[in-house]
Amino acid sequence: MTKAVVLGAAGGIGQPLALLLKCNPLIKELSLFDIVNTPGVAADLSHISTPAKVEGFLPPDDGLKKALTGADIVVIPAGVPRKPGWCGVRWHIDCLPIVKCRDDLFKINAGIVRDLATGIATVAPKAFVLVISNPVNSTVPIVAEVFKKHGVFDPKRLFGVTTLDVVRASTFVAEILGDLSLAPSISVPVVGGHSGVTIVPLLSQSSHSLPKDFSESSLDTLTKRVQFGGDEVVKAKDGAGSATLSMAYAGAEFATKVIKAVNGEAGIVAPSFVNLAADKDGGDALKKEIGKNLDYFSTLVELGPEGVAKIRTLGKLTSFEEGLVQAALPELETSINKGVSFIETPK
Ligand code: NAD
Ligand code: LMR
Repeated sequence: MTKAVVLGAAGGIGQPLALLLKCNPLIKELSLFDIVNTPGVAADLSHISTPAKVEGFLPPDDGLKKALTGADIVVIPAGVPRKPGWCGVRWHIDCLPIVKCRDDLFKINAGIVRDLATGIATVAPKAFVLVISNPVNSTVPIVAEVFKKHGVFDPKRLFGVTTLDVVRASTFVAEILGDLSLAPSISVPVVGGHSGVTIVPLLSQSSHSLPKDFSESSLDTLTKRVQFGGDEVVKAKDGAGSATLSMAYAGAEFATKVIKAVNGEAGIVAPSFVNLAADKDGGDALKKEIGKNLDYFSTLVELGPEGVAKIRTLGKLTSFEEGLVQAALPELETSINKGVSFIETPK
């Protein structure tokens, strides 16, 4: 019996994500929370002939508390998305062509995520929490610090959703192989974090090899396309936000994996941005491999009934990939520290 909750359910990601979760037979209850429009979204979805009972909640009358009561899994796509020229506060006509980085969203989204995490820590501290809101490299540490403050942090139950990077990598490799029908079966580990250079696709470990004559410059182009795939969508949407539909697909895929693993299905492995304390060895092997004592990293995670069962190390990397990992570390460290200190020194 799974109760899933979406926080930010009326948004560009929230609505299609809620639709996909409503269609998931493993979900028996679906609660939707947002600061606007959830009654309408819930009423609409509730007419779909699938088992999940849908309810929508708004902030008045303890809406967040009601939405979260009894939650098994909480997915958070609440917060502002990137737009060209977005400076984190308002639009600037003189910077319209620029796609600002995810870190610019911190000013607004950090507070939103902190408040929602406080609700979860209070009402549903055992729920599995899947964070989509950007910047993921900072918002996941924010959730962890809030949970620590409430004395309920279990690193095995907290996930930064990086699945969209994996979905993109699979699709782009299928395109290169000239057969999109391969995309669902292609798996490429994407590690590091979820922002620009911190997104590190390990194409040498792709389940489907790239063509033999694939040049170094093509590899570089493909790597950059995965790292900056989000920019492609932001530019194409031309002011209307960032990826929503592909993110809803990716979020629903990852949520389904977590639910299946929690229900006892064995052998489920997916990359996610996790607190390395979730692993038996505290992530020591991975830290040694990357040569840096980071508390968070995205890598292949074996999922089990308690959430994270094992955090895998990166395995054999090419020298190109080793360079990408090293290039990711400074930004990753800064973003993680920014999230942690946001809670340590509340703004
Ligand atoms: P959106 O603006 O369409 O929707 C966000 C929703 O959050 C809105 O409905 C808004 O009302 C709601 N919201 C705002 N404050 C809230 C609060 N305090 N409580 C509950 N709900 C609240 O944005 P979107 O396109 O759906 O993107 C949402 C977030 O997801 C952004 O931060 C975006 O950058 C991020 N994102 C992450 C990934 C990823 O791979 N992890 C991919 C795409 C987008
Ligand atoms: C993405 O990768 O598409 C998301 O993180 C949204 C963005 O800002 O690019």
